[in-house]
Amino acid sequence: MTIPDRKWWQSATVYQIYPASFKDSNGDGVGDLQGIISELDYIQSIGVDVIWICPMYDSPQVDMGYDISDYEKVYPPYGTVADMEELIQKCHERGLRVLLDLVVNHTSDQHAWFQESRSSKDNPKRDWYIWRPARYVNGERKPPNNWLGNFMGSVWEWDEHTQEYYLHLFCPEQPDLNWENPETRQAIYKSAMEFWLERGVDGFRVDTVNMYSKGEMLDAPVTDPRSEWQFAGLQYCNGPRMHEFLSEMNQVLEKYDAMTVGECPHTPDMSRVLKYVSAKEKQLNMVFQFDVVDIGQGPYKFQTTPKNYTLPQLKHAIHTTQSLHRGTDAWTTVFLENHDQSRSITRFTSDAPEHRVAGGKLLSLMMTALSGTMFIYQGQEIGMVNFPLEWGMEEYKDVDSTNYYKMVAERTHNDPVELEAAHKSLQHLARDHARVPLSWDSTPNAGFSASKPWMRSLPDTAACNARAQQKDPSSVLGFWKRMLALRRQYADLLIYGDFDVLEKEDPEVFYFTKTYGTKKALAVLNFTDRELALRIPEEVRDQKAELLVSSVDGRAGDEGLVAWEGRVYLLS
Ligand code: GLC
Ligand code: CA
Repeated sequence: MTIPDRKWWQSATVYQIYPASFKDSNGDGVGDLQGIISELDYIQSIGVDVIWICPMYDSPQVDMGYDISDYEKVYPPYGTVADMEELIQKCHERGLRVLLDLVVNHTSDQHAWFQESRSSKDNPKRDWYIWRPARYVNGERKPPNNWLGNFMGSVWEWDEHTQEYYLHLFCPEQPDLNWENPETRQAIYKSAMEFWLERGVDGFRVDTVNMYSKGEMLDAPVTDPRSEWQFAGLQYCNGPRMHEFLSEMNQVLEKYDAMTVGECPHTPDMSRVLKYVSAKEKQLNMVFQFDVVDIGQGPYKFQTTPKNYTLPQLKHAIHTTQSLHRGTDAWTTVFLENHDQSRSITRFTSDAPEHRVAGGKLLSLMMTALSGTMFIYQGQEIGMVNFPLEWGMEEYKDVDSTNYYKMVAERTHNDPVELEAAHKSLQHLARDHARVPLSWDSTPNAGFSASKPWMRSLPDTAACNARAQQKDPSSVLGFWKRMLALRRQYADLLIYGDFDVLEKEDPEVFYFTKTYGTKKALAVLNFTDRELALRIPEEVRDQKAELLVSSVDGRAGDEGLVAWEGRVYLLS
């Protein structure tokens, strides 16, 4: 079996950069583009091929740049379009490709298009956003439907001036564009896509890619009787015209041979996912599915307790995303972190001081043995973990976190027990944990900035920082470098191979095989903080197992597994 026509992006590893928190070059406490340019050597030394930069466009930053007021300008604290051009050029000179974030489900309410749209009912851009009259129930004004927004509350905002509601699936400051209008779509392609494609970007991570077609917008079923607003993700995602819109968008991207990875939440139906990423459909190259990162979340994401999942559930979720490319013409992705997720060591292994390094290496080994395009989020390569429970709510800056906490406070009339539970949950799952400054060294402000950073830097920089790890092959970073090189060396098996879980129900060890033609590998991952005897699953027991790599130095391969140890064997 060979995969015909391999594409450059299949074997690529992408490094995701959060501009506000990567590196501050001018001492104002906020990361910037010159900061990124100054660390291209570092980025490339990890062994990655592509960078993806989170939104660096002009924005009032209500949702950290996912509320864009001008696609063709850079947020001034980050730099200018000229800085972007310099960054793209410097990346290309060294063979690094550049992806931008494409946020076109919505704009900021400060975008000129929305300003016009809201100015009057007969403005030519009125129909560029989604406006609806109120419904009246017993004489009381109500929004057009009962949908719950992604950041709590109704998805509808009343506009006094024109006496209608507009739709916003996220914050009220993020009105949804009306993709039904062909003129709007053309404007999006031109301003948000072609402006940057002309400047040489190699592709896009496409934000909330399955929300453009809203369908009929009927009421969602009542799943939370205590609330006026109901979860509607299964309605506003994957609407009837999605495939048509993406095909049209792809015609623009194709001209530039641009790569795409779409963000695809609320899509449990794999046949739908397949339709987005099947090569012959020409819609998206790949997507981020949420099976793995949603694990352990509550009905409202944070309505849960830390680590509220089992290892078999994690195996199942990984199996779902790994199955996507098996026997199909589709492609998949591998990721555990991004700017919307807390740190993977904290979530999936242990961030206790004695285990964090082992946990980081175990996850690195697991990820590099999975098929698909790999994505690493800044700080993950050095094993950064969540900030501590001792940090109060004032350190949580993200609307997603603060709105949830406010909702709990209101709903429970400030019940201290409920508020403590909310804080604990946020300490485990909040997006804020990924957004603190990258720990560069152990000087004040983590070497990120000469002055106080916009978010507090982690307290553990002595134990975990990039500069120290650059010199230490036994560090988490050293291990990532080694694993990315191995991934390249054994690309058939590790990047393109078929994935199978063995011993699905084992609550402590994750065993999986990778198969490519006659080649086979076995991964054995100890997901506990205890030593375990080595047990090779029956299905592969009669094969010769040669240790390819262990996440712990100096192992022979036939001894028991230490806490959080992972291994890959070649089978023959
Ligand atoms: C995506 C982004 C997230 C943002 C949301 C609204 O989920 O990844 O950060 O808040 O879209 O644009
Ligand atoms: Ca700065």
